[in-house]
Amino acid sequence: MIPITSSALYLDGITVSFDGFRALNSLSLTMDHGELRAVIGPNGAGKSTMMDVITGKTRPDTGTALFLGQHDLTTLDEATIANLGIGRKFQKPSVIETLSVFENLELALNGRRSPWAAVWHQLSPADLDRIEETLSRVGLDGMGDSRAGLLSHGQKQWLEIGMLLLQSPQVLLVDEPAAGMTDAETQKTADLLRSLAGEHTVIVVEHDMDFVAALACKVTVLHEGRVLAEGSLRQVSANPEVIDVYLGR
Ligand SMILES: Nc1ncnc2c1ncn2[C@@H]1O[C@H](COP(=O)(O)OP(=O)(O)OP(=O)(O)O)[C@@H](O)[C@H]1O
Ligand SMILES: [Mg+2]
Repeated sequence: MIPITSSALYLDGITVSFDGFRALNSLSLTMDHGELRAVIGPNGAGKSTMMDVITGKTRPDTGTALFLGQHDLTTLDEATIANLGIGRKFQKPSVIETLSVFENLELALNGRRSPWAAVWHQLSPADLDRIEETLSRVGLDGMGDSRAGLLSHGQKQWLEIGMLLLQSPQVLLVDEPAAGMTDAETQKTADLLRSLAGEHTVIVVEHDMDFVAALACKVTVLHEGRVLAEGSLRQVSANPEVIDVYLGR
């Protein structure tokens, strides 16, 4: 296929209907390489559905969805898209609570091996370095031996982001990471996501406006399945339509 865009992600005219109801209604969104973007909007605006389309969980009725200008995301299955380098973090952490932090990261690194092969696989010095580096990156230095189940809610979210990073995704989709976090954890999460931008293309869906402010990035406001406004948080916050449907509530 001849690339029609050099963007990391290119969505155009994406429509998704559920029994006649349009969850996405001609949605268009473009992400540059290494960009960090916050996506906000009222409940039911289509934010999670947009992530479902990007990850191949939901097929749009119409529209274009390209990864790196060449992979047609509307025709690929979820596993293929994940292997191409699009990773997603759901709101609920999926760490294995009975394993240590280190073991969870080890499993993520070995993601493509069978569980038994992963357990018995001897880590190379390079693997060990990557895990240590990831621990420090997500703010869990020295906590490798801790049981994952004993981590705070925020620490579990960071472990999960670490597990995602070990799969080296080019694009990271993060749905409501700050939900349920303390103010300090929220701030640390914003710092972490900001540090990932540049190297990764990151889309963050969130309702917490203090968190979105801390991300200090371009904001896309979704409403009724389409883009209502785009710009800095300051710009979209001053938009009367955005105030009317979302921020003023
Ligand atoms: N599988 C489905 N079947 C039917 N309707 C669905 C399905 N998935 C989503 N919807 C509907 O599509 C609309 C968009 O939902 P979506 O989950 O994308 O919203 P959202 O912006 O993520 O909202 P929230 O902020 O509450 O997470 C909602 O009205 C929802 O009920
Ligand atoms: Mg959602």
